[in-house]
Amino acid sequence: MTDIAAPSTAGAFEVRPNASALSVEARDAALADLAFGVQFTDHMARMQFRDGEWHDRRVEAYGPLQMDPASAVLHYAQEIFEGLKAYRWADGSIHLFRPEANAERFRKSAYRLALPDLAVEDFIGAIEALIETDHAWVPGVEESSLYLRPFMFASEAFLGVRPAAVVDFLVIASPVGAYFPGGVKPVSIWVAQGFHRAGPGGTGDAKCGGNYAASLLPQQQAYANGCQQVLFLDAKDDRYLEELGGMNVYVVRRDGTVETPRLTGTILEGITRYSVNQLLEDDGRKVIEKDITLDEVRMGIESGDIAEIFACGTAAVVTPVGRLASPDFDVTVGDGEAGPITMDIRRRLTDIQYGRAEDVYGWMRKVG
Ligand code: PLP
Ligand code: COI
Repeated sequence: MTDIAAPSTAGAFEVRPNASALSVEARDAALADLAFGVQFTDHMARMQFRDGEWHDRRVEAYGPLQMDPASAVLHYAQEIFEGLKAYRWADGSIHLFRPEANAERFRKSAYRLALPDLAVEDFIGAIEALIETDHAWVPGVEESSLYLRPFMFASEAFLGVRPAAVVDFLVIASPVGAYFPGGVKPVSIWVAQGFHRAGPGGTGDAKCGGNYAASLLPQQQAYANGCQQVLFLDAKDDRYLEELGGMNVYVVRRDGTVETPRLTGTILEGITRYSVNQLLEDDGRKVIEKDITLDEVRMGIESGDIAEIFACGTAAVVTPVGRLASPDFDVTVGDGEAGPITMDIRRRLTDIQYGRAEDVYGWMRKVG
């Protein structure tokens, strides 16, 4: 994964200011009460692909899209997205975390979904142009950030099944606090029963909306069983841990060794996952990427050999897991509280993201 600062086409985006932008008071009120993904900034960035090229780079008022009911995305789900955050540092400056990596993953997802390629410089340019316009929306309170959601969808109106020739790309932005209501508290996880998120050769390692649609029914079952997230097992053997609905997963052994499912093509290659692996290894910990069975995790929790479990992702950062449940078992991880290795890696990562620690990796990109 490369973090070489990519060029940006931000200057090519025409800004059409929102005449109905929120007042300073209304914006401050919105920023004082942060949840996840419910509030959006005054503008959005967009481009359109047609006649084989990207056109109309602009930043305009956030608002409803006009779509033909025959737009292919509404029928065949030809859509991809990304998620990354902008952080406000104590000196007021604004920084993105590894946006080049999100841009590269977006290109991979586009390839898998037969969507047009979007250059890294346009991906970053759209984000930078939007942040420049809506910089006042990047919150400054602890553990808050501006969540950016770039997405691309088939907007051509036709009902034949083939890749669309007209495609829209947008970036919207949402000031956010913690993903799970209640902040950094251990979450409970339900093991999906009879459903899988992705199969070999499918779209598991692409960030496409369809993967999330497939996760909603098991997620609903997790809620019904008092859990906040669902854990998916592999589709072939139904034994190996893959990932959660929107996060990668780790187990921490009593001896401090950390394990995470190896990448098989059915798991999303989390940018947080790559970063956590690097930080752990540089702290002298052993990180093993391997096949991990549900049975060994259950038995490890019961015997105390597994001391901690955590999940990680852009939205969830690093979230401790306190309980793992299925129709056959219901086990508490350790004492059910956040473990020390989980909280340490969370702090190591967020210290870099918020500029409290030196960014020796070159992960942060200053954007304001
Ligand atoms: N796995 C899934 C299914 C996700 O939706 C996400 C979130 O983006 C992740 C893993 C973690 O990826 P990242 O760390 O790049 O946010
Ligand atoms: C993210 O962490 O960015 C995600 O996409 C997870 C979820 C909000 C879908």
